[in-house]
Amino acid sequence: MDPFDVLGVDPDADEATVARAYRDRVKETHPDQGGSREAFMRLQKAYAAIRSGEATVDESGRTGTNGSSPTTATAAGPATTDEPTAPPPGTSRMEYLNYEVLADHGWEIDDEDLFEAAAETDLGPEAYGRILVDHDETLLEAAERAGFAWPYACRGGACANCAVLVREGDVEMAQSHVLPKGMVDEGIRLSCLCRPRSEELQVVYNIKHLPGLDELRLPSQQF
Ligand code: FES
Repeated sequence: MDPFDVLGVDPDADEATVARAYRDRVKETHPDQGGSREAFMRLQKAYAAIRSGEATVDESGRTGTNGSSPTTATAAGPATTDEPTAPPPGTSRMEYLNYEVLADHGWEIDDEDLFEAAAETDLGPEAYGRILVDHDETLLEAAERAGFAWPYACRGGACANCAVLVREGDVEMAQSHVLPKGMVDEGIRLSCLCRPRSEELQVVYNIKHLPGLDELRLPSQQF
């Protein structure tokens, strides 16, 4: 895999150009936008390889990667269910849970021991785990860098497809008029606009079908 080809940028492209290309390609490859999971994963790996410096250019100008796993090389680190240590400076640890698995296990979103129950259940990394989030990236970006296809449509605070419930911890959210104040008071946020502000977070993602949010959502075809 040539990561620069995957993103459609020159090997000497600057950071801003790479980030812009990544955002454009995310819109094309995300499964919610009509893309495929394979293409989305390939893009995540390519972006992680370039950001981590694993993407290489040899003397003849050929590009590639040095062969180690791009997912484990991201600044955010891999998804894990291991017991956490303190997150590195400039990052927060986000424990996440997919809302879709709650009904299968008879859990409610406001169960006091929801995350403890999830941690003790054999859920795959898509459904439950922990990842590190850089303080300057959004929760959605961090999830994608870890290789997960969290829902979204506009990536700009206009559609509510990316809504999450922040059960523990602080986040800072850029202004959006989509969420009513009552929902914000309950801890609902837009993962495309939120950046972490506490060491630890507990987040239920994929809550777009919660009553009230379903009506706020705009179809992804509009973006
Ligand atoms: S993706 Fe539309 S509000 Fe976040």
